[in-house]
Amino acid sequence: DKGNHRHFMAKEIYEQPETVSHTLAHYLDLAGETVKLREELPFDFAKLSRLTITACGTAFYAGLVAKYWFERYARLPVDVDVASEFRYREPPLPDNGLTLVISQSGETADTLAALRYAAKEGQHIAALVNVQESTIARESHVIFPTLCGPEIAVASTKATTAQLSILASLAIAAGQARGVLSPSDAHALVRALIELPRNISEMLRFEGRVEEISRNLSRAKDVLYLGRGQLYPIALEGALKLKEISYIHAEGYAAGELKHGPIALVNEEMPVIVVAPSDELMEKTLSNMYEVAARGGKIILITDAEGKAEAGGGIDDIIEMPRVHPFVAPILAAVPVQLLAYHTAVFMGTDVDQPRNLAKSVTVE
Ligand code: F6R
Repeated sequence: DKGNHRHFMAKEIYEQPETVSHTLAHYLDLAGETVKLREELPFDFAKLSRLTITACGTAFYAGLVAKYWFERYARLPVDVDVASEFRYREPPLPDNGLTLVISQSGETADTLAALRYAAKEGQHIAALVNVQESTIARESHVIFPTLCGPEIAVASTKATTAQLSILASLAIAAGQARGVLSPSDAHALVRALIELPRNISEMLRFEGRVEEISRNLSRAKDVLYLGRGQLYPIALEGALKLKEISYIHAEGYAAGELKHGPIALVNEEMPVIVVAPSDELMEKTLSNMYEVAARGGKIILITDAEGKAEAGGGIDDIIEMPRVHPFVAPILAAVPVQLLAYHTAVFMGTDVDQPRNLAKSVTVE
């Protein structure tokens, strides 16, 4: 049932304030403003030597965001790789390592094979899954459920923000266990998570603006997405979403890589979407944005009020995010890139919920 929405994807985008809130309620003690894991952990975050994250597609990008969090807030070394590479590379895995697999369906063939390899190598196995009766769930030592309800649209939206919310909670738990985060540091991060559902609701109020911008985007043949730091995976995610449902060619790049090749593509025909809410790296990303503007590139900037002020008057298309703690900015920034892909696809007239050549659950290798 799509409710009042034209597509399941729109419904699932709109459910996010509620689904993120529901998921967080399972992982946080809201009143105490702390992380409280109900799952019994078969490992100790304090003693882990390394975290290995493996997944496919959007779930892989969620894992990439988590790498920034675990490294920064828990000083835990993290490797992230797509499951189809990880499984055949057969990397050496350390004693007392944790392998975390992320999968909405819990049935993705490559992710399952990666899990089995890691288990054979003696790793602790944890899984973030949405389908709790899935094969990946069954074969893991501990599962962290994404409690967002069934996801029907092929393009993942609410499962992604649920995955990110859990990964953020786990990074805080790890940071405390490893003595990196003080109780007050942890409180501040948990508070940012608690406020997130309200921020997402506020973000959704900018849908009209995103729709207008999408009308122009639907005329593009190629689109570049740029982000830096923990927003880099969101640039990748934005490009994937646009490709899969609008069939417009898009690439995500780390903003600092622009001058190492992709800037050669920039001309008036190619929109460049810059994901840069205010944080300590925003100015660097904005300076990459000016390099694009100086070459006639058409810019769509996703930022907050502070970023808007910093960017000055020259940028026509700005999608304004509510100002949030930089920690949760990647979760919030996932929403405008979903909306951009969605509205662009609607303008293109594609089959948004069932894009050509794609299946919801990829059980073949
Ligand atoms: C993108 C998308 C896919 C999946 C990928 C993994 O919107 O939906 O990239 O994220 O196929 O699927 P799961 O999470 O079921 O393992």
